[in-house]
Amino acid sequence: MLIRVDLTTFSLGKTLAKDLYSSDGQLLMPKGIILKEFHIQQLLQRGYEYIFILEDEGAILSPIVENTRLPEVYTNTVETMRDMMSAVSAGHMVKPSEVNESIDVLLPEVTGTNNVLKHLLNLRNKDEYTLQHSVSVGVMSIKIGQAMKLTAQQLRNLGIAGMLHDIGKCKMSNDIINKPGPLDAAEFKEIQKHPIYGYQIVNEIKLKDPDIATAVLQHHEHQDGHGYPLQTKGEDINLYGNIIAVADVFDALTSDRAYRPRMPLLKAIEHIVKGTLGHLEPMVARRLFKYILDISIGETVILNTGQKATVVLINETDPTRPLVKIEEEFIDLKTEQNIFIQDLLS
Ligand SMILES: [Fe+2]
Repeated sequence: MLIRVDLTTFSLGKTLAKDLYSSDGQLLMPKGIILKEFHIQQLLQRGYEYIFILEDEGAILSPIVENTRLPEVYTNTVETMRDMMSAVSAGHMVKPSEVNESIDVLLPEVTGTNNVLKHLLNLRNKDEYTLQHSVSVGVMSIKIGQAMKLTAQQLRNLGIAGMLHDIGKCKMSNDIINKPGPLDAAEFKEIQKHPIYGYQIVNEIKLKDPDIATAVLQHHEHQDGHGYPLQTKGEDINLYGNIIAVADVFDALTSDRAYRPRMPLLKAIEHIVKGTLGHLEPMVARRLFKYILDISIGETVILNTGQKATVVLINETDPTRPLVKIEEEFIDLKTEQNIFIQDLLS
């Protein structure tokens, strides 16, 4: 079976189904090659967005078999975050070498994995919330940045900013950070200072790109200027800040907290795309949405009928209505308007 896929999200390790030619007619890549990271980068640099890959029908109709064991890189990154946060809490500075070494092993792991959500689900509940949340936001920011075709250098800086976005919380009382319930007005005012503390801490690390510290400062600002701490508006919020804001909300909504259960993925995405108008940058939010849908191919979904179905093909014009399969029966949700996906993934 030949299917069209978005280069940024669903091509690694797949077989190229058609010869690819440059604009002057030279053969760039022959059909039949197995797509590796450098092939994808080469095609993205040449402006390709989609390619055709081969999937044997049996493979696409059954769930994607991926190694769901949590890669060591993720647990190592959590440990690095633990070290850095303890250092800051004790009044020490973060070592730039720790930041650089950490992102240099995390970045290739994340960009080379299509479905990072499985790893992030494994990461959850294994450690205290702020630690796993910092790593998750770094990882999701990189995936959104990858889908937005950022350069490798930008993805590196974005990943650092994502990991460090809440480091300012180390300067605050644990009673507020770990409070098992909504904050009162005074506590909320206090917590609103964490982006400023974070900005100061990251500035002291003296990383090359000043946008990293600015993104840490801006990750709770809103497009309409009603965020905090400086009420910066949309056009003045930097790219990394906009991406981290989306990854931050997504991870918070889809994580279990002491005072509420996690939100199902599709509901969280709908909330981000429709329910955060004026808050999150819409183009960035839609990139996250597309990423989640692309990795849902081959996954089990729950329909409003209560039945479990497998996603077979994404409908490009209406991505929430893919072709699904229940046992031997195919259902095209584009035409079966009374049936819809209640939740993605389990
Ligand atoms: Fe934050």
